[in-house]
Amino acid sequence: MNCDLLVRSAAQLITAPPGSGPLLGPDLDRPLLIPDAAVACDGGKIVAVGSTAEVTRRYPEKEAGRVVDARGLLVAPGFVDSHTHLPFAGTRAVEFEERARGESYAAIAERGGGIRASVRHLRETSEESLAAAVVTRLARLLEQGTTTVEAKSGYGLALEEERKQLRALRRAAASSPVTIVPTFLGAHEVPDEHRARREGYVALLIESMIPAIAKEGLARFADVFCDRGVFTVEEARRILLAARDHGLEIKLHADELADVGAAALAAELHATSADHLLHASPAGLKAMAEARVMAVLLPGTALTLDLPYARARLMVEMGVPVALATDFNPGSNMCSSMPLVMTLAVTQMKLTPAEAWMAATANAACAVAEGARLGRIQEGYAADLAVFAAEEFRQIAYHYGEEHVRMVVKGGVLVLDRAGPSGRT
Ligand code: NIG
Ligand code: FE
Repeated sequence: MNCDLLVRSAAQLITAPPGSGPLLGPDLDRPLLIPDAAVACDGGKIVAVGSTAEVTRRYPEKEAGRVVDARGLLVAPGFVDSHTHLPFAGTRAVEFEERARGESYAAIAERGGGIRASVRHLRETSEESLAAAVVTRLARLLEQGTTTVEAKSGYGLALEEERKQLRALRRAAASSPVTIVPTFLGAHEVPDEHRARREGYVALLIESMIPAIAKEGLARFADVFCDRGVFTVEEARRILLAARDHGLEIKLHADELADVGAAALAAELHATSADHLLHASPAGLKAMAEARVMAVLLPGTALTLDLPYARARLMVEMGVPVALATDFNPGSNMCSSMPLVMTLAVTQMKLTPAEAWMAATANAACAVAEGARLGRIQEGYAADLAVFAAEEFRQIAYHYGEEHVRMVVKGGVLVLDRAGPSGRT
């Protein structure tokens, strides 16, 4: 049997137990841990996982195309970062300082900063330079162990400008090993030119932007920022139903700034995920649990904006499936590190380290409707692995602020191989 890449002798391997759906309730805290582990890959897929003895019996080392010795290292599924705003132009470091001086995110947005500041930057940037910026960001993501990233438009807010963002993603994806899952977020904010008559923008989204984006195949998901001061539940419902009519899957930015009932809307529409949820009501969460809508939690944003963290423990207890993501964007979280997100999940939201791993891998893949292909080290899954200089899984969230990634395998190819101390950190 063929094996073009064999990773062997890892101190530990962490993955979800065999299966393909989201991990719920107590199952989130029951990963599969394998000591002295090996993974055999062929044709971009995983063909065997288990102890080094078991795997090498089926796939002998001398017949493998390439052998990676992972002695002293931790092997995990590559992270799936299921919520980012990757194709942005310019930065908003000034707003970062303004918040330190006491101004709120909402107040900055009201006076024309926030998302609308990023829209001005984006509109002055070419597709080419945007694509170049995305390529750089993808390289950084890979260095931090992320092998798949969801990426939203939403800083164009006009058809041509949104198209520019999504086309930049497509171009960037062609020159990076990281897989991009593109999302159309035209309903991120009402642009300046439509603020006098917002209904005009909602109509534009429904009648022209969504059909055009879907027709060109530029996005897989559509998302709406459904919150106080942005889009109402009624507007979000109309926009998302239109998106679904055009073949897009749906996601929501839900109840981040206030409880507006967006979590319940996500349940009503059977959205793939509802994200943020800092202020989601227990009734909204209950509806999400019943509809099995993934809650994508973004603790980096709560940290940056100094907001209360989402109630992850309550969600897990209620049976809401939970995933973790960065929300990487220039306004509310200029950070693309999934390891740091896991640290915040453990220290601030009280997920266990094992729960944080499952939420950042297996469940994160489900948050982009790829749970049957990505996010697990399992036969038949994409051979996307992150290898860390650590002997056990807790080390990564625990020992934060340092880079522990040593190797990354994407589609069965060793795409990052960094020298550095292995073993104990
Ligand atoms: O997910 N909440 C809405 N959108 C982004 C913020 C984007 C921005 O401020 O530029 C978020 O936090
Ligand atoms: Fe976001």
